[in-house]
Amino acid sequence: MKKVLITGSSGQLGASLQLNDYDVMRTDIFPQGDQENFTILDITNELHVKNLLEAEKPDVIVHLAAMTNVDGCERNPDQAQLINVKGTENLLNSFSGKFIFVSSDYVFDGENGPYIEEDDVNPINVYGKTKLESEESVRRLSNDWIILRTNVVWNIGGNFKASFADWVVDELQNNRLIRIVADQWNNPAWTVDIGNVIETMIKHDGKGLYHHGSSRVINRYDFACMIANVYELNTSLIEPITTKELNQTAKRPLKCGLITKKLENDFNFNPSKTLSDIKAAKNN
Ligand SMILES: NC(=O)c1ccc[n+]([C@@H]2O[C@H](COP(=O)([O-])OP(=O)(O)OC[C@H]3O[C@@H](n4cnc5c(N)ncnc54)[C@H](OP(=O)(O)O)[C@@H]3O)[C@@H](O)[C@H]2O)c1
Repeated sequence: MKKVLITGSSGQLGASLQLNDYDVMRTDIFPQGDQENFTILDITNELHVKNLLEAEKPDVIVHLAAMTNVDGCERNPDQAQLINVKGTENLLNSFSGKFIFVSSDYVFDGENGPYIEEDDVNPINVYGKTKLESEESVRRLSNDWIILRTNVVWNIGGNFKASFADWVVDELQNNRLIRIVADQWNNPAWTVDIGNVIETMIKHDGKGLYHHGSSRVINRYDFACMIANVYELNTSLIEPITTKELNQTAKRPLKCGLITKKLENDFNFNPSKTLSDIKAAKNN
């Protein structure tokens, strides 16, 4: 049975990754909830990473650990560089098996998305820059790699820090007014769908860069309204605003999103519909 080591496994995406047919080793900087086979691993600790990989000899690494708070990365670029770039390089320097790295549409500037894999990258914030730099490290330091770029990763019910959808449900359930940007466009990706793609990528040969997302690009305000409708919450509590008005610390790419044709061709991927995904998440 193949041994798969997951970094960042207590995070929003990691918690959804099941990988039933594998000997899975879950790692993260802090444990969360009940986790079988869990090992604490800070990817910035070069020696610990090296010792663990030499002792455990995984066949595959699914690398999810990252500093994902986009404004936090902007405020603390050294920390973002350390975790996102150096942490990735620490893993790559002690590993020669299959390396699956999850990256982001924030490697683009958002001028004319959605994007295909061949489009020019041009990150406009620290988070995007560190994700791009780690992609370059993956290409340079691994002979057996997949970079899976995805966008607006969401799940409902896990209460993760990075979960936009949970935040929307929670705020509306508490009758609080929320202001959501209507000019940031992406094709949001449900963690369960990304998990299925990663599992397929472990099973079947394949190498290279792939874009992942749902079937339609929507703006963040419409996404929030979709969530509210499925959860039968009051959409009038959601106010559309512009990115300029919101004035976030880090610049946001506006017209983003990822075209999934290559994933469809090479891995038989069938992009899901966000509305159906939200309904499925509610019934999960
Ligand atoms: N969220 C999105 O919209 C999105 C979009 C595109 C791509 N991605 C990528 O998808 C991957 C998973 O994202 P996610 O949404 O699951 O993010 P997440 O919930 O923030 O999960 C990341 C995990 O990595 C952990 N981590 C942070 N520093 C670490 C370190 N030094 N060593 C080991 N673990 C560390 C985090 O722990 P703490 O929480 O304690 O820091 C967290 O458990 C990331 O690589 C992210 O860049 C995410």
